[in-house]
Amino acid sequence: MSILPIITIPDPVLRKISEPVERVDAQTLRLMDDMLETMYAAPGVGLAAIQVGVPRRVVVIDTSEEDEEKSPLCLINPEIVGLGQKTRLYEEGCLSIPDVRVEIERPEMVTIRYIDREGQLQELSADGLLATAIQHELDHLDGQLIIDFLSRLKRDMIIRKFKKAKRE
Ligand code: NI
Repeated sequence: MSILPIITIPDPVLRKISEPVERVDAQTLRLMDDMLETMYAAPGVGLAAIQVGVPRRVVVIDTSEEDEEKSPLCLINPEIVGLGQKTRLYEEGCLSIPDVRVEIERPEMVTIRYIDREGQLQELSADGLLATAIQHELDHLDGQLIIDFLSRLKRDMIIRKFKKAKRE
């Protein structure tokens, strides 16, 4: 396994729409292992393949607490099939936008369908932090970022700051 470099804004790669995975082969498994290692090292609770430059619909998530056993979740071609009525407000961060937090209101419960590491179709219902993380990571697969929830003015300010930092 290896730690991969994480792409940060304003790299246009992050805006790409990721393509579905056609079959779960050794390359896909390797990618997910590397993504997990990269996510744990960062550290973060979720990572989408596009954040390491791979435009495939692959996501890894682990919302377990530091003192708990790891519970990695690998989602291939995940799709939302149900959203709860109630919403939850949470200050989200993103490994592609270091040191920025955005308060976002999303449905508190989500049901998804996805392919697991064994190539099996699975359904999962989640709430709380896991539901938030799932929705955040699925947004990445469609090129959507947490700064898109901000006003244009605030978003442009953050993008300018990152552009400037990259020049320096
Ligand atoms: Ni993110």
